[in-house]
Amino acid sequence: MEGDFIVIEGIDGSGTTTQTKLLCEWLDKKGKEYVRTQEPVKEELHIGKVIKEHLVQDDDDHSPESIALAFAADRLIHLEDRIIPALKEGKTVVSDRYYHSSMVYQPEHGADLSWVKEINKHARKPDATIIVDVPAEESMKRQQKRDGGESSVIFENLDFQKNIRERYIKLEEGLEEDIYIVDGVRSKQEVHEDVVEIVREVMEK
Ligand code: TYD
Repeated sequence: MEGDFIVIEGIDGSGTTTQTKLLCEWLDKKGKEYVRTQEPVKEELHIGKVIKEHLVQDDDDHSPESIALAFAADRLIHLEDRIIPALKEGKTVVSDRYYHSSMVYQPEHGADLSWVKEINKHARKPDATIIVDVPAEESMKRQQKRDGGESSVIFENLDFQKNIRERYIKLEEGLEEDIYIVDGVRSKQEVHEDVVEIVREVMEK
């Protein structure tokens, strides 16, 4: 039997990486085989690494379309190399970000949403996508704390993060798949408990 494919999404600073980690620790304790992964893929020789180091860093130099295509290519290769084989072996796959990120970030930079959907149409649908929802102000505060308070672009980014959050909340309307929104403005453990409840239900289906 195929494993379940779980995606954790949210605006920058929402805690997707923490929740991915906590979920994998829970799966481990339950004795379930799992693969923890993320997008963009950050290993050497992967398109995701090129995106992180050369495209996203200076994204004023690149069109939202070229960046969207690079993310989509990274994703399909990620699926073929890692996600699909693991699911076929019956493992649960937990990914920190997936095509939902492309559907919110690249249109916010100016790419056409229906075109972004089109170039991602060959990417397998997750069995559940969990959006960790936090207000933009909270995400900015967390990022500032993480960066040692030295970021001067924080307030310029506030509107951007607000728009990204709105896009995440609206995402379900146009996608025929199971999307769950959890309140991320609580302790890590409380958020984790909601995540586990959702994943438990998905696994029992
Ligand atoms: P991420 O690696 O999660 O950030 P970090 O490790 O630096 O905290 O993601 C990098 C950024 O890339 C993040 O702002 C979201 C963005 N992104 C897109 O714009 N489109 C995509 O398809 C993906 C997967 C990420």
